[in-house]
Amino acid sequence: MNVLIVGGGGREHAIAWALAKSPKVDGLWCAPGNGGISAIAQCVPIAATDVEAMVKWAVDNQMDFVVVAPDDPLALGMVDAMEAAGVPAFGPTAAAAIVEASKSFSKTLMEKYHIPTAKYKTFTELDPALAYIEAQGAPIVVKADGLALGKGVVVAQSVEDAKEAARSMLAGGKFGKAGAKVVIEECMTGPEVTVLAFCDGEHLAAMPSSQDHKRAYDGNQGPNTGGMGAISPSPNYTPEIAARCMKEIFLPTVAALKAEGRPFHGVLYFGLMLTPDGPKVVEYNARFGDPECQAVLSLLDSDLMEIFLACRSGTLDQVEVRWKDAAACCLVLASGGYPGSYGKGYPITGLEEAGRTAVVFHAGTRLGEDGAVLTNGGRVLGVTAVGPDLDAAIDGAYAAAAHIHFQDMYLRTDIGRVWVPNP
Ligand code: AMP
Ligand code: GLY
Repeated sequence: MNVLIVGGGGREHAIAWALAKSPKVDGLWCAPGNGGISAIAQCVPIAATDVEAMVKWAVDNQMDFVVVAPDDPLALGMVDAMEAAGVPAFGPTAAAAIVEASKSFSKTLMEKYHIPTAKYKTFTELDPALAYIEAQGAPIVVKADGLALGKGVVVAQSVEDAKEAARSMLAGGKFGKAGAKVVIEECMTGPEVTVLAFCDGEHLAAMPSSQDHKRAYDGNQGPNTGGMGAISPSPNYTPEIAARCMKEIFLPTVAALKAEGRPFHGVLYFGLMLTPDGPKVVEYNARFGDPECQAVLSLLDSDLMEIFLACRSGTLDQVEVRWKDAAACCLVLASGGYPGSYGKGYPITGLEEAGRTAVVFHAGTRLGEDGAVLTNGGRVLGVTAVGPDLDAAIDGAYAAAAHIHFQDMYLRTDIGRVWVPNP
């Protein structure tokens, strides 16, 4: 089969790496891709959000299957558009991707189907929002309704900070349309765990749990980022908690979306908080998390293409999804300054040495004219190691990362080793 992957980060590199191993895959393309992806797939210079151009390219070039990995094209209906043009595609329709694209939609869904989550209220007017914050007190969480590059959530420690956040979204136009509606919710406490699950509209296969590290600096300090590293599985996610999540959260969510006429085909991301009252949903995403994807897919022992096909056709119950009895750690090597401003175009050395004991997924790289690998983004690389247990995986990832160098390179030194309760 000829397969096109839409996207160009570490997640898409990990998907390409896993699909390249499938005997079902003859040709692999990635749009827009990046410097590392170009070693295993042909990169096509089309922006991930350009639905029209992407569909035209897939049709013209006779793609047999398209994997839509990032949130924006999913919310824009790229899967719907591919299917309408006769190109089979992996990922939720826009109607199902709304679980990520609208927080108020997913909160209403959870309420209706009794899926545990933080108590909340939705507002489009400032004055009632301010009154609600005043009445509830702090800490309290203010969220923009729509997609805001992961920056639309304020966990406010004071009533004043919460009011300021609500004001900036509802009256100040921060996040534009995405912030014209806000969800204000109870602040939960406990460790956070991510569980990704393959879904085929009706059945679900949960992947090993994982844990992202969203803050920029050691000790979970500093600004939020897209993620500075991930481990899988999460030591906090015991078999008892897993069984409870399956019964109280995962199966009810898939059934709820089906009942609402929005069957979910693709990867459903459960952002969970293990609160003193049991596991609760912090958020849903409609796709693989990044960098969680790099750690989790490193543990897959089955054919990813076969799983993707089954997710689309509703036959996930007929494929075996096997996982290595091992652990994985993905360290993000970032450009100094990220998530603020940073330089680009610096040469990267040590990739070959690091690649001997780990898989180095590229997130923000490009090839220079002479074929040299250059930095080209905030998150540059995801150095991913697998080991018999978490300690071995973490040590392996740090040992491999020690070979790599580029100007202003920054990484956290405590991925998988810090358990600071939230908030
Ligand atoms: P979200 O984009 O909804 O995942 O929120 C980003 C981060 O904000 C989460 O990973 C949590 O650390 C934090 N957060 C979101 N909602 C809550 C909540 N209700 N209580 C405590 N922390 C939260
Ligand atoms: N790592 C978090 C996300 O992909 O949303």
